[in-house]
Amino acid sequence: RILILDYGSQVTQLIARRVREAGVYCEIHPGDVDSAFIESQQGLKGIILSGSHASAYHEDSLKVPAKVFEAGVPVLGICYGMQSMALQLGGKVEWSDHREFGYAEVRARGHTRLLDGLEDFSTTEGHGMLKVWMSHGDKVTQLPPGFKLMASTDSCPIAGMADEERHFYAVQFHPEVTHTTQGQALLSRFVNEICGCAGDWNMPDYVAEAVANIRAQVGTDEVILGLSGGVDSSVAAALIHKAIGDQLTCVFVDHGLLRLNEGEQVMKTLGDHFGMKIVHIDATDQFMGKLAGVADPEAKRKIIGREFVEVFQAEAGKLSNARWLAQGTIYPDVIESAGAKTGKAVAIKSHHNVGGLPETLNLKLLEPLRELFKDEVRKLGVALGLPPAMVYRHPFPGPGLGVRILGEVKKEYADLLRRADAIFIEELRKTEDPISGKNWYDLTAQAFAVFLPVKSVGVMGDGRTYDYVVALRAVQTTDFMTADWAELPYALLKKVSGRIINEVRGINRVTYDVSSKPPATIEWE
Ligand code: XMP
Repeated sequence: RILILDYGSQVTQLIARRVREAGVYCEIHPGDVDSAFIESQQGLKGIILSGSHASAYHEDSLKVPAKVFEAGVPVLGICYGMQSMALQLGGKVEWSDHREFGYAEVRARGHTRLLDGLEDFSTTEGHGMLKVWMSHGDKVTQLPPGFKLMASTDSCPIAGMADEERHFYAVQFHPEVTHTTQGQALLSRFVNEICGCAGDWNMPDYVAEAVANIRAQVGTDEVILGLSGGVDSSVAAALIHKAIGDQLTCVFVDHGLLRLNEGEQVMKTLGDHFGMKIVHIDATDQFMGKLAGVADPEAKRKIIGREFVEVFQAEAGKLSNARWLAQGTIYPDVIESAGAKTGKAVAIKSHHNVGGLPETLNLKLLEPLRELFKDEVRKLGVALGLPPAMVYRHPFPGPGLGVRILGEVKKEYADLLRRADAIFIEELRKTEDPISGKNWYDLTAQAFAVFLPVKSVGVMGDGRTYDYVVALRAVQTTDFMTADWAELPYALLKKVSGRIINEVRGINRVTYDVSSKPPATIEWE
């Protein structure tokens, strides 16, 4: 196993995900675990130190436990992890006024087991170059004794260092993000070759482990799960159903903010096909009533979350043995809601399926997908036998169209948006990209329409119109932590815009969102 010590970076789970992708079991623990904990790790093969938004030389910053460097296993430090390694082993770290953020090109120096042969291109002098993603202010300015220079950039002369005798490696850039193109290769090299982990851990192993964990956790208790219609809650339901069968009751709350025909599809697939117990509740009026007059995104999320809790509690009350509330919370929800287990990351948005639920419930929380990224959830869904059309459906946020109608939510807006969205999705599915042979729905990770409650002037036939605007959003990403807007063909955009304006009375203008994440998020609220 590989131990990942977390110092609070937004992307620590990405390290875990890359290690899993290399077929190796790993666990994330807080960066300040004690020596006894490290000693107790059975079959420990290597340790990875994450990044952080903190400064390694600040007094109150977490120190890497000394035991890490005495455990006799290879250690890889990333960003803050590198700076801490440098400081604690006798090197120097300095604050720099030149903050580096984003794309950088790193030159590999010297020959190290970690970087040898890894390159994106080479310079005319024959130096191997890596395209990487950097995000740091501080930097290492003096190597600790025993270390040699492994990589450098113009503004960061020590961008990587290695002590190959002790198998300590460190990089200033982030190999865990997809923008570092050789990142997976680098982390695989570390865990498979340098740490000597076989790489035979896979999704069926994960299913077996997860099923065993769920059984051990809930015993003979009954569990209720909130089905949202999205991929996550469906996969969570399938996993829990596999573990405990009819001890699971799904509550499918239609808040009136679902996509077109979504309710019927969910009932057909999970209910009829999978044989799960599903209680289907139409709570549209209740949700709309509570959302009336509320424009603030966070307030809307909280209201939707709270109403869910109410409906659940009412249902749970009918199941006398229900002790658990299961949810399809996945890792990006956790981290963006104020920080993972270690609680060190900075809050961005509160996702409705995480924020505040346990306190108001008499139910314990069961979240079997908490450690996984979206694409891992999909692979898990396939391994569980869910239909690919459902598993490869674009993700849909728990608050549904509630966060895609900007400002106040009204049923009238939701009805317009649903129809515009369905047209967009239908055309994406129908339009094939001649180069890849795939349709644009499959070529994008998430695509949807957003309702803008502003009116603009248009002309239709002989008449003037004064109607609402819809924005189309389509992104490409694998981890949903970063995303690029999709370069959809103009002909497709033209078709979609023409159809929406002609078919959805009340919308007379369509725009396309060309913002990437970061700095924008995928959803507009
Ligand atoms: P953002 O907008 O933060 O979204 O870039 C990242 C991914 O998370 C989804 N998302 C949510 N999912 N509850 C959810 O279950 C939420 O409140 C929520 N907000 C965003 C979003 O659709 C995207 O896939």
